[in-house]
Amino acid sequence: MVTSRTAVYSDMLTLQTKLQFPFERHFFSLPGWAEARTVLDFGCGNIAYATLLDDLFPGKQFFCVEADSEMREVAVRRSRPNLHVVGQLDEIPSDVRFDFNLLRLVLLHVAEREAVYKFVSARSEIGAKLLIFDAEDDLLAFDPQPREFVSALRALRAQSKNRALRPLLPNELDAYGFTLQYEDSIVVNNSFPHAGEDLFKYMYRTAELGVGSPLPEVIHRELIEWWMGSPYVQYGFFGQLYERS
Ligand SMILES: C[S@@+](CC[C@H](N)C(=O)[O-])C[C@H]1O[C@@H](n2cnc3c(N)ncnc32)[C@H](O)[C@@H]1O
Repeated sequence: MVTSRTAVYSDMLTLQTKLQFPFERHFFSLPGWAEARTVLDFGCGNIAYATLLDDLFPGKQFFCVEADSEMREVAVRRSRPNLHVVGQLDEIPSDVRFDFNLLRLVLLHVAEREAVYKFVSARSEIGAKLLIFDAEDDLLAFDPQPREFVSALRALRAQSKNRALRPLLPNELDAYGFTLQYEDSIVVNNSFPHAGEDLFKYMYRTAELGVGSPLPEVIHRELIEWWMGSPYVQYGFFGQLYERS
């Protein structure tokens, strides 16, 4: 049974995948992805992202790990024969080795990062890649500022464990045999034609996750009036690609 919060979260993840993938695409043209055959997708959410990757780059096996039982239910419903959804890392068969590991927008929610690193390191072949996308909140900007929305966003962000991982990860991962090869900041903004109404819907879902659904009238009204005024909005995150040595 999936509650309305999970339905909102799942819808938000689908919008996020659609909005952001064009800006993440170049990471998948770097050495490592094309030849990867076995992929770990840790914190897979509703598997919208893994499904998109499978559509665009067929022929890989994905092991998708989702801790939240309701979100996992959504993921299982959408799974495919080559997309294996489990609840924990130790449910992945012990003989499975990964040549690509994806941690997309999940480490910010994880209190025990070392346990994840330990697993990924133990199950990765030499030369395997680790791709991380995570929060870079300083890239957020509005013109004008939707004040009520920003306070809802603050409430959502306060639920994260750590939203400032970018400078910490290279040293943390070096201790597990992963060397940083490439990194980039990624900025999404509503000047890009493909963003369109999806960016508004994405913000709306984000506010609902922060303060509950249905949105309080004051935020609902502000967001609609703000959007009708042709505002500018941008947000961003970072990507880092590592190699196992
Ligand atoms: C922001 S979502 C990102 C989902 C997906 N990676 C994507 O890019 O669309 C983070 C997901 O990680 C899951 N998650 C958080 N901590 C986890 C853990 N320790 N193990 C597995 N999944 C976890 C959450 O339940 C949530 O569904």
